Amino acid sequence: MTAAVVSVADSVASPAPDIRPETPQDAGAIEALLNHAFGPGRFAKASERVREFAPLRLDLSFCAWEGERLVGVVRQSEITVGGHRLIFLGPLAVDAATRRLGAGARLVEVACAAAEAAGFGEVLLVGDPPFFGRLGFSTEATGQILMPGPVDPPRLLLKSLGAAGVTDVLQGAVAAP
Ligand SMILES: CC(C)(COP(=O)(O)OP(=O)(O)OC[C@H]1O[C@@H](n2cnc3c(N)ncnc32)[C@H](O)[C@@H]1OP(=O)(O)O)[C@@H](O)C(=O)NCCC(=O)NCCS
Repeated sequence: MTAAVVSVADSVASPAPDIRPETPQDAGAIEALLNHAFGPGRFAKASERVREFAPLRLDLSFCAWEGERLVGVVRQSEITVGGHRLIFLGPLAVDAATRRLGAGARLVEVACAAAEAAGFGEVLLVGDPPFFGRLGFSTEATGQILMPGPVDPPRLLLKSLGAAGVTDVLQGAVAAP
């Protein structure tokens, strides 16, 4: 597959990070960034219970780079809900020194576009509604979705991709594909 290279923001003073698909060689830098961003509570999250069984889609996961320095990451895994295949987004993190420049939003947009191009109709995640609401995620269709651990319902968010979403019938436990 040809690596997509996407400029993050038009208006930042520093050079915009390049966003490229994750590769196996990126794993060490990603671990360090995630540990720093989430701290010791990282693995206590309900999302981690999903990631224990959901296969990572490396081709739908992206890194933001400033030169040789990893400044952001978004990962996506494949899941099913009621037998329907969809994408579970996360973790998402941007290096503290690079925040509020648009990299987080751009990573989510690139990840969703890649999921849509791969034929998926929805992206599910657990996250902060003020941030993800601006990117098209809502609780509208998540009321019947059961996570494998406790989740504050307003934080379980879904985005329909394109016109092909079937979000009104998503019902059941989040499971492996
Ligand atoms: C969340 C995160 C990825 C955002 O990255 P970013 O590159 O700063 O994001 P953007 O520049 O695209 O957007 C920044 C905007 O989102 C807001 N924002 C950031 N995190 C937010 C949050 N958790 N809740 C609400 N708003 C948030 C900022 O205040 C800023 O708003 P503004 O544009 O009005 O100033 C980054 O803050 C991060 O890595 N946080 C730690 C890990 C984390 O919480 N990940 C998300 C899990 S829900």
